[in-house]
Amino acid sequence: MPLLPIVIYPHPTLKQRAAEVQRFDAELARLLDDMAETMYAAGGIGIAANQVDSLKRVTVIDAAPEGEPAQLREYVNPVIVEKSGSITWHEGCLSLPELYGDVKRASNVKVAYRDRHGAELELEAEGLLAVALQHEIDHLDGVMFIDRLSLLERKAALRRWQKIVEKRTAEER
Ligand code: CO
Repeated sequence: MPLLPIVIYPHPTLKQRAAEVQRFDAELARLLDDMAETMYAAGGIGIAANQVDSLKRVTVIDAAPEGEPAQLREYVNPVIVEKSGSITWHEGCLSLPELYGDVKRASNVKVAYRDRHGAELELEAEGLLAVALQHEIDHLDGVMFIDRLSLLERKAALRRWQKIVEKRTAEER
């Protein structure tokens, strides 16, 4: 199971809408396995296919609190079918390393999705898992967390991001 390269903003795949999975085959299983391994290696709690330059509508999330057993779940063709409440979370993203921003989202969601074999499932989530589901499903629609900030906050975040990019480029030299 190889680690996959994570694409960094503003890679074009991050702006595209991922396509529904039609075939629940070995290729899908391999992608899900590799995405989970890549997410854990990068220290993330979720990753969407766009972030590994794939346009399949899949995400994997493990929002278990630190020190507790892993709760890895795979979501194929996930759709938010209900949402309620409001929560503001200090979000980050593996495709915007070191950048954080306060994003307002629903505090509770109900998601319909399939597993890697095509079975239909539903999950109700709250708190961090609800935030992660909305963040990752946004990725599948080509939306990044900075797109959810107000215009002023987004401008400030992009200025911080520019500094991070400059620092990363300097370190690579
Ligand atoms: Co992200």
